[in-house]
Amino acid sequence: MRRLRRDHFTSPMKPISVLFVCLGNICRSPLAEAAFRREAQGAGLDIAIDSAGTGDWHVGKPPDPRARAEAMRHGIDISSYRARQVNLQDFGRFSHILAADHQNLADLRAMAPPDGEAALSLLLDHVEGLEGQAVADPYFGEEDGFAETWQQVSLAAQALARKFGVQER
Ligand code: 4NP
Repeated sequence: MRRLRRDHFTSPMKPISVLFVCLGNICRSPLAEAAFRREAQGAGLDIAIDSAGTGDWHVGKPPDPRARAEAMRHGIDISSYRARQVNLQDFGRFSHILAADHQNLADLRAMAPPDGEAALSLLLDHVEGLEGQAVADPYFGEEDGFAETWQQVSLAAQALARKFGVQER
């Protein structure tokens, strides 16, 4: 496993660590976490990875059954994941916090402590051609919405693994 260092414009010594954030931490961010865990492992990257929600409604619950089914369609069991809410320590613990949509990003910026080290960004800003776009929120839709969400978070996971892999060299 290669232990990664974060980019120089944030802090030279803190290892790269990534937190994926959505609203409930039961649909989009657990899928992003699962996709990125797979990519990071495949690339041999030793990165701390987690996900959280800006809201607290689902704290302690497993991912939405439709998200679990979507992950299983890709061979990943996320049934042991449990939702948690973002907290102030996350801004010091993680080098990168990636928001699923613009509201999540605004909420993160509003709560970030002045000395928070984490670099905040929109998840799809890391995907060429999808910059500025939100990950599709499938919660209030039909099951097929989760396939689109998976597609987007997978592209982001691949892009992030490439980016962090290149930084490490
Ligand atoms: P997530 O999806 O933020 O991707 O986990 C949602 C989960 C719950 C709610 C909305 C979106 N909700 O309104 O409870």
